[in-house]
Amino acid sequence: MSISLTWHGHATFSLNINGTRIVVDPFFAGNNPSAKTPVDAVAADFILQTHGHGDHIADTVALARRTGATVIANFEICNWIGAKGHEKVHAMNTGGGYNFPFGRVKMTPALHSSGLPDGSYGGDPGGYLVTAVDKTIYIAGDTALFSDMALIGRAGIDVAILPVGDNFTMGPEDSVLALAYLQPKMVVPGHYNTWPPIAIDVNAWAEKVRQETAVTPLILAVDEPYLL
Ligand code: NI
Ligand code: MN
Repeated sequence: MSISLTWHGHATFSLNINGTRIVVDPFFAGNNPSAKTPVDAVAADFILQTHGHGDHIADTVALARRTGATVIANFEICNWIGAKGHEKVHAMNTGGGYNFPFGRVKMTPALHSSGLPDGSYGGDPGGYLVTAVDKTIYIAGDTALFSDMALIGRAGIDVAILPVGDNFTMGPEDSVLALAYLQPKMVVPGHYNTWPPIAIDVNAWAEKVRQETAVTPLILAVDEPYLL
């Protein structure tokens, strides 16, 4: 019974929950400047989609088609993926939860936007709480800081995956404030250093987390699995 977490660069992560492979926001080498692995080499049973922006969805349809993975996303994104010929989708919406074979997934709000790459309406952006094997993982998605993170934190979060790169999402300062609301045991940074507008000193961020919170920061190296 185990969960491993891998960062693939930018905001792309994967979870392996007792052998079930869940890819979050597929954006791989060729499209993603900070990824090492091309999408053709990725395995997936489920895809968890936070919103419709290209830096999260560029490789979703290709990965879903080749692997036959079920795409979990909001209703509008599921319709868009269905129209591209991939019917294995599970539509959710903000605030809803569902028990999948690997664990429970609850869609949380995010303060962001969600237009699809071709200009289609992508519904509301979101994040996810994933609860499996006695662990709860919060994937914030692209978001600003919001005080209702305190409600999300009531789930009892083991690991929070937060955007920290600033400009398009929370930056280092606000992501540290978010920890006061979320109260996770550990925090993993994402959505930083992919391009110049989101370049930050991630080690300085980690030091700030250590100084100002009781949360353990965990900076992952690309493609190196971490056993939770
Ligand atoms: Ni975005
Ligand atoms: Mn993004």
